[in-house]
Amino acid sequence: MLSSEVRSAYNGGMQLPPGPRAPALVQIAQWIARPLQLLAQCQRRFGDVFTLRAPKEGNFVVVANPELIKAVLTADPDTLLAGQGNATMLEPMLGKHSLLTLDGAEHLRQRRLLLPAFHGERMRAYATAMREITHASIDRWPLGSPFSLHDKMQAITLDVILQTVFGVTEGDHHGALRARLVELLDVVTKPWLLFPGILGLDPFKVPWLKITKLKRTVDDTLYAMITERRRRATGGDDVLSMMLEARDEQGAPMTDVELRDELVTLLLAGHETTATSLAWAFDQLLASPEALARLRTELAAGRDEYLDAVIRETLRVRPIVPLVGRVAARPFQLGPWMLPVGTRVAPSIYLAGQRADAYPAPQRFDPSRWLGVKPDPYTWLPFGGGIRRCIGMAFAQFEMKIVLETVVTRTRLEAVGGPARVVRRGITLAPAGGTRVVLAQRPQRTATAA
Ligand code: HEM
Repeated sequence: MLSSEVRSAYNGGMQLPPGPRAPALVQIAQWIARPLQLLAQCQRRFGDVFTLRAPKEGNFVVVANPELIKAVLTADPDTLLAGQGNATMLEPMLGKHSLLTLDGAEHLRQRRLLLPAFHGERMRAYATAMREITHASIDRWPLGSPFSLHDKMQAITLDVILQTVFGVTEGDHHGALRARLVELLDVVTKPWLLFPGILGLDPFKVPWLKITKLKRTVDDTLYAMITERRRRATGGDDVLSMMLEARDEQGAPMTDVELRDELVTLLLAGHETTATSLAWAFDQLLASPEALARLRTELAAGRDEYLDAVIRETLRVRPIVPLVGRVAARPFQLGPWMLPVGTRVAPSIYLAGQRADAYPAPQRFDPSRWLGVKPDPYTWLPFGGGIRRCIGMAFAQFEMKIVLETVVTRTRLEAVGGPARVVRRGITLAPAGGTRVVLAQRPQRTATAA
């Protein structure tokens, strides 16, 4: 028997799960300002499946039930499209050939071309660069005065991507490219930039806007770099080298536009996400002295299971994106509801990770709950799932491991204030104030640290 609220949500003969009745603009404003509170309130009021509304996208069905999350993530990719769902907001910046904005055969082709570069075993090639970049950053942190750890993590993950993905090291295009990317990234992480995308407008079409000029300059630099790398064709360890050598089933290489779109995608998908997750890991560890002490002890003994557990727990309690999205290209049966074409379906990373039936005392940061436990892919899904699961999942966790281990082993940090509030930075959810800390001790690098 369906509740009256469910029945009143009938839409052209099809059913939608219940949801708040506030106007779409009010709901989207709440979604931008207080996304986690909105999700938790709706779950309390309507249950594990509810409908939000956005001005342009229309109905947005949020799913927090693991069985139904599985149904969405393993659905036929031609019925539930991920690329179309991402394209409204991301295509202006990432382009039409980005892994994030493509669907169907084109998505599969690009994904096959990129996958070898992100295979778990490839990560070892990036370990030295990641460790060196982290040490060099620590060397520059001020002693005894507060600073934002989030900013430092941003700088580290940007340098890691420049070196391991773009193959750019000091000298080359490094300085100019880095400076332009920092400027561009600073603008694209502003929450206001979500509004034009939500309304279906392309902010990059306004020629006099700073962001349009910045994007053009970055694109010019990237195309110049791609031309030069094609000419040099030295074959390195980095992801761009592998993309330059990759061939599809017809033997065709990636075009310049495809390379540009994937480079910008990897930068935007991989830089802010990993930096923010690292900032959250420190935020949570510094607020849990017992967990931090145990991590130090385990690392000193050369064991990394607890470190893996810290990373998993951070991504569970503080996921940097609260949802993944799909769009129904055909009617889709979701439990008792038949969702009409065009409905957005969004498994909620945040709500799934907060389920008390899967994670007792779900609000508590407790890495030990992961010891000897494998994550369940439908309650722990910080990297999404199905054939669209984050291609950088191994890369991100490997990088988090190296940066955390290097910082925890080499420094003594003290928190300034308690654990941070969650605030929006563009698409991601970050610690308010940027995880401010004081560096109390920074011994010289030891032979083992090097
Ligand atoms: C902690 C860090 C990261 C988190 C939490 C994260 C999270 C996600 C999520 C939730 C998705 C959507 C998956 C879906 O729709 O089911 C995604 C997709 C993606 N991510 Fe990540 N990501 C991270 C790091 C990275 C890194 C380091 C890279 C690359 C250098 C990367 C590249 C991508 C790409 C290319 C996609 C699109 C995959 C596709 O549609 O086929 N991400 N990521």
